Amino acid sequence: MALADVIIIISRGGGAFVSRWLHVIVGITWIGLLYYFNFVQVPAFAEMEAAARNNAVDKLASRALWWFRWAAVATVVTGIMILLFQTGTGNKSQLFDMDYMKSSEGIAIATGILLALTMFLNVWGVIWRNQKIVIANARNVQAGGEADPNAAAAGRKALLASRQNAIFSFTMLLFMVGTGHFFDNIKLFKQFPSGSERGAYWAIAVIIWLVLELNCLGVIGGTGQNLTNKIYDSHKNALIAGGVLVVIYYLAFYVTLKA
Ligand code: HEM
Repeated sequence: MALADVIIIISRGGGAFVSRWLHVIVGITWIGLLYYFNFVQVPAFAEMEAAARNNAVDKLASRALWWFRWAAVATVVTGIMILLFQTGTGNKSQLFDMDYMKSSEGIAIATGILLALTMFLNVWGVIWRNQKIVIANARNVQAGGEADPNAAAAGRKALLASRQNAIFSFTMLLFMVGTGHFFDNIKLFKQFPSGSERGAYWAIAVIIWLVLELNCLGVIGGTGQNLTNKIYDSHKNALIAGGVLVVIYYLAFYVTLKA
């Protein structure tokens, strides 16, 4: 083996090692804060008096949101770095390896990435955009200013996207971790499923993903408290919906791609 090949292999291996390690650290920072918001902060804020809540939004939530949104950026960047450094089929980087993406392993990581990227867009495009309005309002009211009439609606939009992210997160992690630990089991899943098998899987996976995402954006039933938004009514409902979604995605994967 030529020295150049050895250097490529070591840098790829080292790169994948470091980016995977960083990826897990920033990933747990992001998702840990997501769970803090959903399971701790939202229920606590609901019980707090307005003045105390405004102070907590100003001093506590604003800081938590800083770590939350930048950890989300770092997770996406380090995730792409793993794909870049890790080899798929042969010696090709996974990022440019279409054959890898057609394997059960590749389909698993692509599903995890689809959900994670959607969650990332929800963080920056919906949650943070609306939380800026909530934080500005809390600071303004604390300083003696008029309350912003749009703040409650902004808070509601952020809440729906945040609960949907919590729901997606369990399935996203099933596929993130499962890529290297469950879905690469060729006794259970075809290593290289056919085009129609892949098509069947993606049809189911994409429809469920799209319906849920459109729902949390209010496109299907609005942002009010109606039947389609039941899964967002409480963090308990979101937990149950998240668990059910894991089972549905696993079954979809198993039924369409089993060996
Ligand atoms: C768009 C965003 C993301 C991308 C591109 C991405 C990419 C990846 C890749 C390529 C792997 C390696 C899979 C393998 O070959 O075993 C991986 C693993 C993993 N990712 Fe992500 N990921 C993203 C988001 C997340 C998020 C939000 C989390 C939250 C904690 C996360 C946590 C993990 C974990 C725990 C592993 C497993 C590491 C292992 O078993 O070795 N990822 N990710």
